Amino acid sequence: MAQQNPPPPPPFSLSSVRDRLSSLSTHIMGASNPSVFTAATVAAAPEDPLFGLMKAYREDPSDKKVDLGIGAYRDNNAKPWILPVVKKADDAIHKDPSLNHEYLSIGGLPDFTSAAQKLIVGATSPAIQEKRICSLQTISGTGAVHLGGLFLSKFHPQKPTIYLSNPTWANHNQIFTNVGLSLANYPYFSKETKGLDFDGMLQALRTAPNGSIILLHACAHNPTGVDPSQDQWREIAAVMRERQHFPFFDTAYQGFASGDLVRDSWAIRYFVEQGFELCVAQSFAKNFGLYGERTGAFHFISAPGADASTANSHIASQLAILQRSEISNPPAYGARIASRVLNDPTLFAEWEDDLRTMSGRIQEMRTGLRERLEAKGTPGSWDHITSQIGMFSFTGLSETQVKILRDKWHVYMTKNGRISMAGLNTNNLDYFAEAVDSVVRETA
Ligand SMILES: Cc1ncc(COP(=O)(O)O)c(C=O)c1O
Repeated sequence: MAQQNPPPPPPFSLSSVRDRLSSLSTHIMGASNPSVFTAATVAAAPEDPLFGLMKAYREDPSDKKVDLGIGAYRDNNAKPWILPVVKKADDAIHKDPSLNHEYLSIGGLPDFTSAAQKLIVGATSPAIQEKRICSLQTISGTGAVHLGGLFLSKFHPQKPTIYLSNPTWANHNQIFTNVGLSLANYPYFSKETKGLDFDGMLQALRTAPNGSIILLHACAHNPTGVDPSQDQWREIAAVMRERQHFPFFDTAYQGFASGDLVRDSWAIRYFVEQGFELCVAQSFAKNFGLYGERTGAFHFISAPGADASTANSHIASQLAILQRSEISNPPAYGARIASRVLNDPTLFAEWEDDLRTMSGRIQEMRTGLRERLEAKGTPGSWDHITSQIGMFSFTGLSETQVKILRDKWHVYMTKNGRISMAGLNTNNLDYFAEAVDSVVRETA
């Protein structure tokens, strides 16, 4: 009798075996713990408006598109610019056999922090002579603002409210909220004059509780491009002294605003001269074009007095503890570049030339834009384009106008009507002026 073959094994797929194994393991081990961080617990955060804008610009296929959102310098071909002096310092670093990749100390590269200090308060400042200034290298200006905010939040005996200009760099709100300070605003920009609301600002400083912290942009205010005059700074200082307010200077555009490093640090130097206790967050992102290298410094200047130097050394020691717990020690590369330039008189002079190149080109764009709008008779007044200073201009364009500029003309700027002057160049200036003229008339 012929023997029957056994039936072939049933077909199986790898995934059915995996599913079976997984259900067996769940059966044996028990179900996994329920998630704590569900979609309901952690709400989706809104996209950062500026980074969202950059993304939308990148994805726009139009060959006419203009990027006026970026807070970074662009050359006349809309390309990032490596400062020639930075290239030189960079080349020297690559050839230096003594360099390695060891950690910096907690406070950063000493040659860098001491030079950064002199740059901001002046080499002959009484604060340096009396040893009542301490400086730590930070993760660019953002890190310096954060370190200062954290220190004030932890060590200010009254933990006062911090007053920010309205408007201000959007990140100020987030940083100071994160460190637990309470926030308030002081008026800054007048919609009518598109200049400084000086009376509103002084009034707010007068009525803020005694001893409040006042965040001040040292120059080239972001986002408005509107700075107080030297006389106005004197009045601001007088009111702040009367009310015993604590100045917190943020300086992200020194040398970039006027092309003159001393002039752009005038307000800080004046406040130091007047004997204020204050702090300074200093960024080298814009004036060295070292955006991604995260190069900055935080300075604390104690009020003059017999105890000042000891108090300042205590403050330095506490800042070091805060820094250690947050970043351990700062990144070396950008600080090495800046340090070479700041400490070498020849390179320093070349840097000043580079600063004049950047601020000069921006100034030309301001003049060019104003001339074009005025020549077209675009409704409204445009003199604020040239009276504002630094990288940004607060155009006064409304949110609706900004939207039309983006949808119809492929021009990208922040909703508040701020434009980065560095995004303009001789190739797109006519186009932009035509776009603004058309949109202003269309919405009049
Ligand atoms: C007013 C102000 N502060 C601080 C910063 C910090 O910049 P960064 O962290 O790139 O140095 C900026 C940058 O846009 C700024 O505009």
